[in-house]
Amino acid sequence: MKEKEVDQHHYAAFSYFLEQACGIVLGENKQYLVRSRLTPLMKRFNSASINEFVDSVVKGNRQHQAAAIEAMTTNETLWFRDDYPFKLLKSSLLSQFSDRNKSLRIWSAACSSGQEAYSIAMTILNFKKQQSSSFRAGIDIVGTDISEEMLQRCRHAEYDQLAISRGLPAQFRTDFFEPADDGKLKLKSEVKALTKFKSLNLLDSYASVGKFDIIFCRNVLIYFSPEVKIQILQKIAACLQDDGILFLGASESISGLTEAFTMVRCSPGLYYRKKPQ
Ligand SMILES: C[S@@+](CC[C@H](N)C(=O)[O-])C[C@H]1O[C@@H](n2cnc3c(N)ncnc32)[C@H](O)[C@@H]1O
Repeated sequence: MKEKEVDQHHYAAFSYFLEQACGIVLGENKQYLVRSRLTPLMKRFNSASINEFVDSVVKGNRQHQAAAIEAMTTNETLWFRDDYPFKLLKSSLLSQFSDRNKSLRIWSAACSSGQEAYSIAMTILNFKKQQSSSFRAGIDIVGTDISEEMLQRCRHAEYDQLAISRGLPAQFRTDFFEPADDGKLKLKSEVKALTKFKSLNLLDSYASVGKFDIIFCRNVLIYFSPEVKIQILQKIAACLQDDGILFLGASESISGLTEAFTMVRCSPGLYYRKKPQ
């Protein structure tokens, strides 16, 4: 149908808007993606065509811009994704922080619907129980994302059976969840108490989040250009305490982008440690 077609001019204008607004690079020939993601918005906002909707986005309609960014982000996530960062926390990293007089601060940057931040929280609670560790100065896990819809889900902390089935070990399900309506499960307050969620566009300043001991920035840099990755990695390094730790997604690397970190190979997996300045 003609109203669902995206012509070359509108595709180029929309691609430029998206990259400037949130860093996401569409590249060539992703008209099908723009068509499928923006068709529901064209209907919701009564635009006569996708091209007309794109016109209103690029001309600065804030509501349409926010909805377009929301629609174009990919929010795929699961519990304990890639497994090894959580194993490393438990086997070697958390013990470095458990007895000190300063709170442990961990950032899940681009947290999607919260599974990453809550997997970190459950790992720490489990570690505390098994090791009788105190973390007496406190634990502060911050999740941030550009998507308000995802942040709402994070704060709600209720997950349906499909989401629960993706990566959550049975013991964690028993220990840290309780029944909610419609067959859903919700996280117990002891897990929620360790986490808070905030809106943050990774292209903006990180001054509002403070300094961290460990940062998870996983499966989001893949959407950005090398120039934007370099800027983000620079800001992440500035947000880490000396010797702080960065986890990237299993298929992501900082090679050729920054000299601010030393790669630490583990078995399995790897992380990046901030170099002393
Ligand atoms: C694929 S999910 C990754 C979630 C989680 N980190 C993981 O690895 O499972 C990518 C997330 O990045 C967010 N995102 C995309 N662009 C962003 C930006 N410029 N600033 C902050 N978050 C962004 C999306 O909203 C989405 O929730």
